[in-house]
Amino acid sequence: MTPDQPGHQQPTHRDLDPHLRRYAQRTAGMTASEIRALFAVASRPEVVSLAGGMPYLPALPLDSLADELAQLIMTDGMTALQYGSAQGTPELRERICEVMALEGIRAHPDDVTVTVGSQMALDMVTRIFCDPGDVVLAEAPSYVGALSTFASYQAQVVQVPMDDDGVIPAELDAMLRSLRAQGRTPKFFYTIPNFHNPAGVTLAVARRADVQQSCAEHQVLIVEDNPYGLLSFDGQIYPAMRATDPDNVVYLGSFSKTFAPGLRVGWALAPHAVREKLVLAAESATLCPPTFTQFVVSRYLAQHDWKGQIKHYREAYRERRDAMLAALAQHMPPGCRWTHPAGGFYVWFTVPEGLDTKAMLPRAVTQRVAYVPGTAFYADSHNPPGRDNSSDSDNPPGDDNSPGDTAPAGRLMRLSFCYPTPERITEGVRRLAAVLERELELQRTFGSVRPRTMFGPQSPSPDTA
Ligand SMILES: Cc1ncc(COP(=O)(O)O)c(C=O)c1O
Repeated sequence: MTPDQPGHQQPTHRDLDPHLRRYAQRTAGMTASEIRALFAVASRPEVVSLAGGMPYLPALPLDSLADELAQLIMTDGMTALQYGSAQGTPELRERICEVMALEGIRAHPDDVTVTVGSQMALDMVTRIFCDPGDVVLAEAPSYVGALSTFASYQAQVVQVPMDDDGVIPAELDAMLRSLRAQGRTPKFFYTIPNFHNPAGVTLAVARRADVQQSCAEHQVLIVEDNPYGLLSFDGQIYPAMRATDPDNVVYLGSFSKTFAPGLRVGWALAPHAVREKLVLAAESATLCPPTFTQFVVSRYLAQHDWKGQIKHYREAYRERRDAMLAALAQHMPPGCRWTHPAGGFYVWFTVPEGLDTKAMLPRAVTQRVAYVPGTAFYADSHNPPGRDNSSDSDNPPGDDNSPGDTAPAGRLMRLSFCYPTPERITEGVRRLAAVLERELELQRTFGSVRPRTMFGPQSPSPDTA
């Protein structure tokens, strides 16, 4: 029987998933991220992906790493392939303290917990602090992986506006006061201070003390997530908030962007009591982080010029950032704006008024270019803070974008410059500009009608749905 034959009944949710009634309530907050669907599309060779945040691994010395790994198995295989401590190996925790010292952090290896990427650290922190309905503060926009973790623990995410200098301390303070007036204390403030994902901006050093003071005054913990801090294009390293406030900051770090994400090695540096809870939570999740990849990272840090490798990465990313900014300036139509990141992987881009980056995505993929729509980076994508639908069409093209500007989330997108070659980036931006030109032309012809209504069902690429 086909769907259009008489008597055919549409399958219900229960027919599609017979286990539906069994799931815990928290699974309601677990939805596939827009990024996940995009990775499938972006991996097609004909598509220039400006979507994913994949590090540029061709910059790694693979031959010498292969030799090191063989050596590692020969000399330390019996320990490296065995179970290990739930907190991580002492050697790696010591090395991690040396890495963090670059940001002014003085820490004891006892306070470091090694995790399976900093994503697991985010999950552990949320697990030990958040009951359903608890408030978590985050920047607007914020890292999509953190938002999905908070949602999976049924936390209520309240986002605080940013501008070119990161989160706005006065807005944060006002939000804390407003929540206090409602009798609510956020469990923590989650922030990505350096080369923000997705906004590409850095929290001004002068603002850091204000942020810390407000959080301390309201007894709100800071979760400082810093995977990009060593990837500035001019070599500047910003002081970590953890450096000045060891008691009220949980610092999250990662080797994903400075070495390799496939190793899945990250860490949390936490006040002593919090660290104890983190280790217990980590133990119940994984028993212990993989010993083998911890040995790989320890050996790499001990025997390789890892700072030289980071410099190599920084140069690769700066070249790509330059290619993206030059192509945007050359090709984008009037009414577009974008940030000018000084490090990291991302440009935050605003399309002209009346366009909708989520609705436009399937058409962009048809034109062989992919990006992440801005709505992915807001817990409440329909009503993000600090945004309205006011007109800003007076802005000339290429005007500095600010994450705190007034464009609605539907006009925003994240463009990643980390992985494609500069030539591919230029081509991707050119394709994207052509898509925008066409959308604008249709808008001029038909008026500002939502593209979804205008074109009927969209199905050029099912995996962008
Ligand atoms: C801000 C931020 N935090 C955490 C992560 C997770 O990184 P990891 O690979 O260490 O789990 C990412 C990954 O892109 C990120 O951008």
